[in-house]
Amino acid sequence: MIGSTVSELTSVITGGAGFIGSHLTESLLSQGHRVIVVDDLSTGRKNNIEGLLENPNVEYIEGSVTEAALVNEVVDRADRVYHLAAAVGVALIAKQPIQTIERNVYPTQLILDRLGERASKGKFVPCFIASTSEVYGKNPKEVWSEEDDLVFGATTKPRWSYGVSKAIDEFLGLAFYKEKQLPVVVGRFFNVVGPRQTGAYGMVLPRFVEAALRGGPLVVHDDGNQVRCFAHVDDVVRAVSDLVNKPDTAGRVYNIGSDVPVSILELAQRVVERVNPKATIEFQTYADAYDDSFEDIRRRVPDLTRIREAIGYAPTKDLDGIIDAVAKYQSSL
Ligand SMILES: NC(=O)c1ccc[n+]([C@@H]2O[C@H](COP(=O)([O-])OP(=O)(O)OC[C@H]3O[C@@H](n4cnc5c(N)ncnc54)[C@H](O)[C@@H]3O)[C@@H](O)[C@H]2O)c1
Repeated sequence: MIGSTVSELTSVITGGAGFIGSHLTESLLSQGHRVIVVDDLSTGRKNNIEGLLENPNVEYIEGSVTEAALVNEVVDRADRVYHLAAAVGVALIAKQPIQTIERNVYPTQLILDRLGERASKGKFVPCFIASTSEVYGKNPKEVWSEEDDLVFGATTKPRWSYGVSKAIDEFLGLAFYKEKQLPVVVGRFFNVVGPRQTGAYGMVLPRFVEAALRGGPLVVHDDGNQVRCFAHVDDVVRAVSDLVNKPDTAGRVYNIGSDVPVSILELAQRVVERVNPKATIEFQTYADAYDDSFEDIRRRVPDLTRIREAIGYAPTKDLDGIIDAVAKYQSSL
């Protein structure tokens, strides 16, 4: 930040019209950044940033970060890069593994290559890479911390391509830090939820809330005893921007999310209780929901020690408040 105030910064957000990206766009604008949003609207929606397009500090580019010329053009103007664009959603990934691998690996390489070129000319632009708790694969530990092993399933099961492709992104980012001193920070998101998230690609909370508002049934996969932790997107985007603003986070990986575990069945019951007590709950096998090869992860809980120590991270929104916020948003559509 030497020589420039926060208000002079230009941030590029890939996937900025997506769920997390649109909230990050808002957050950075409120900090006085100029923001360049690049999105191909593959899973994002222009509606997510509709209210921001009038803002003179926002530039919206509809295009794909698989295009080298576009990546070079925006990266050259950036003081910060937040790389969020990816193929997301378990349902989408199980169906389109080729796209998952290409979309998740190739753009990261393009972005880092260009940032690496700028670094070799003396301009070290901080870059955030959005990774995922999926990189822990099926590690059987109760709580996952950043130095734990990544335990993936067989390559014949396409669902692992998401976690593996994001792990390659992490390796790439860390390699550019090591070899080119590029200030890259990796954030592993654990179930981020909140307004604007769509249920269309298999995300569980928006699916449940949509079903409850319709009168049910809420479809719980398997026995519902899978455990997850849900964090509000506002808490998560604050963490992302704090991590990037803190120089000593470069070259490191951080879990980002909530560490309060809840079973999927309990989540469904809480959604019913808060959104529509008349809605029913039904169970569906993974084979029916996806295919016979689908393997899920029973428990996914982060150790947040590292991020707490780095930026004093403390989630401010609990699950009931999150469910209410999602229901309010969906009712307004
Ligand atoms: N939401 C979560 O719980 C969660 C959990 C783990 C990781 N993540 C990661 O966070 C990031 C954001 O996810 P999200 O939940 O906001 O999903 P999202 O689908 O709303 O956002 C992804 C955005 O990237 C865009 N995009 C995809 N490929 C693109 C391309 N080639 N060029 C330009 N834009 C492209 C999509 O249109 C979309 O707007 C992703 O990298 C995802 O892997 C999210």
